[in-house]
Amino acid sequence: MDVRIQLHVDGEWRALTVDTRTTLLDALRDRLGVMSAKKGCDHGQCGACTVLLDGRRATTCLALAVAYDGAEITTAQGLTNGGMPHPVSQAFLDHDGFQCGYCTPGQVCSAVGMLDEVKAGQPSYVTRDLARSVELNDEEIRERMSGNLCRCGAYVNIVAAIREVAR
Ligand code: FES
Ligand code: FES
Repeated sequence: MDVRIQLHVDGEWRALTVDTRTTLLDALRDRLGVMSAKKGCDHGQCGACTVLLDGRRATTCLALAVAYDGAEITTAQGLTNGGMPHPVSQAFLDHDGFQCGYCTPGQVCSAVGMLDEVKAGQPSYVTRDLARSVELNDEEIRERMSGNLCRCGAYVNIVAAIREVAR
């Protein structure tokens, strides 16, 4: 069954008709030509397809597009501000937080969403003292970014980039 939906992608309303089985990732890439969200595993295991969905990080390969009619979607491409890279993107560049770059848009979106979660006081699995505000140390960063895999193994520099932005 086909359904007409609208998505607000990187600041622009886009209308499209989707089969109800279409994932948000396929709608973005194959239907709207938004290639910033990457398809890695297509099974919710690598994080390459991460975007900010209504302000929260989400893996788009696990989301059905029809369920997000009217949603606000920001990809790594849409994080630029007047042509300037987002501070998280800039930190990835400064710290060589990538090699091939395939995981990077998902890593950047995930890091932006994660920093907002920390700001909102959300604990993680490794947060020891729930009564105090979260100290974003390397253990916290690694745990909170564990849904984003990097096949090139750029983890040390990814953590360094996020640590710098967090400070
Ligand atoms: S492509 Fe979505 S988690 Fe891997
Ligand atoms: S930079 Fe190649 S997969 Fe992460």
